[in-house]
Amino acid sequence: VKLDELYALLKRRGVLWPSAELYGGSQGLYDYGPLGHALKRRIESAWESWFLGLSPRYHRIEPAEILPEAVVRASGHLENFTDPEVTCGNCGAAFRADTVLEKVRPDGVDGLSPAQIGELVQSHRVKCPSCGKEALSVPRPFNMMFGLDLGVTGKEKGYLEPETAQASFLSFPRMWDVGRRALPLGIAVVGHAYRNEIAPRQVLFRMRAFTQAELQIFFDPAEFAPELGPLGSLALPVLRAEDRLAGNETVREVAAEELVRSGGLPEFYVYHLAQSYRFYRDVLGYRPASIRFYEKSKEERAFYNRIQFDIEVELESLGGFRELGAVHYRGDYDLGRHAQASGQDLHVTPTNHPPVLPHVLELTFGVDRNLWALADQHLAQDGERRLWRLPAYLAPVPVAVFPLLWKEHSAEALRIVERLREAGLPAAFDDTGTIGKRYARADEAGTPYCLTVDHETLDPAGAGFGTVTLRDRDTKAQERVTIDALAVRLAPAQRFPRPGPAAAA
Ligand code: GAP
Repeated sequence: VKLDELYALLKRRGVLWPSAELYGGSQGLYDYGPLGHALKRRIESAWESWFLGLSPRYHRIEPAEILPEAVVRASGHLENFTDPEVTCGNCGAAFRADTVLEKVRPDGVDGLSPAQIGELVQSHRVKCPSCGKEALSVPRPFNMMFGLDLGVTGKEKGYLEPETAQASFLSFPRMWDVGRRALPLGIAVVGHAYRNEIAPRQVLFRMRAFTQAELQIFFDPAEFAPELGPLGSLALPVLRAEDRLAGNETVREVAAEELVRSGGLPEFYVYHLAQSYRFYRDVLGYRPASIRFYEKSKEERAFYNRIQFDIEVELESLGGFRELGAVHYRGDYDLGRHAQASGQDLHVTPTNHPPVLPHVLELTFGVDRNLWALADQHLAQDGERRLWRLPAYLAPVPVAVFPLLWKEHSAEALRIVERLREAGLPAAFDDTGTIGKRYARADEAGTPYCLTVDHETLDPAGAGFGTVTLRDRDTKAQERVTIDALAVRLAPAQRFPRPGPAAAA
């Protein structure tokens, strides 16, 4: 499916649309409609169930999304959170350097200095994509944070958070005090990140306001050793930086234990790569062959990272592999910087242990990009029929109830909707059009179960009394199920998968 087609479908179904459409929209800003909002909530719940399921010591918090200037100065974002930008001297249009160099350097410009990028623009005689003139400037670093004035005096500066992670670092001392004073300690945040992207594009892939789900695991590097156990034999599709830089772009399937034994990666790191792989493959259901871990070299990785593997998934609508999340080993960079800048010692002393400045492993996840990827990979065409093969627990509307005849069957159908909602299932009611049309609408929305109330349901003399027709989205198979058994029968729509016994505890 092509990007435009997929976007048109998502708009038509009210999954999402451009913000402020009435005024022509604003680049990189999108609104989610009922289906999109519900799907996002479900993705977030699945993420939380899985990653907080890794240890009973991991907790979610809900911090403010505005950071005082001192925080972003200490974190390095004021200085380093930049993208190289080129401006056209003829028409004034501005571009990210990697977009004007797309044909020359398809892998991007990470790791190149502004001078090197400038040379590439010059030597390849790159023209302005807007006016076609050879008038592009030498790149300059453009800071992507949105600055704000706090209060009336304008003296106090703030920034919309460029990543949710900072709030976890700032909350660490409190979480230590209110918690069990033990490591590892995990702090999860699901919230908005705001970036003044130079060139927003590809709908949910480069937005100016988006949702991140991040888990920061604070640990003692001398102690943190979640065991791979049975995960040791799990084959992980990796593209090592070393191979890539030597010109070999082949993804290799390497057993997790092998990545530790001869791959030079710490076991705690590989353990989390493996758990992330299971999440993308088994919970979100991406095709295994479409997932890869793309290692960033020292020059390419984010300024705070010691080890970085991006989690990339191949998407037809975007013509290749795209980053949906990552596993970042940030070392003691963040607590070290915040300790220095705030003048507060952030070492902690777990019971019977020497003081330690905790290190951080960050599991980061882009909710919007994954929503798009779930549409790209799971929307299928079955002849004339279009269906969204989402796992039942991700479906925005897990069950829809139809009265066969509006007049006779609506009251009972609404009663069933109410019962299912009481049981925690957000059931929908649809009485518009033929049953075939209602099935088609539900299939396209990813609804795994449709229930139809008919005369049999209400006929006390018949064998079907108190039953409804349950129709399965994927097989189209129909069966009669008693109303009393529905909550149990539909339970797969409510059960988010968990990673199993908490090895990191
Ligand atoms: N705390 C680490 C961090 O923020 P990042 O690679 O800059 O790392 C993490 O962002 C994730 O956020 C990405 O993997 C991606 O899924 C998502 N993301 C980043 N920029 C985005 C944008 N402009 N639009 C949509 N999602 C974005």
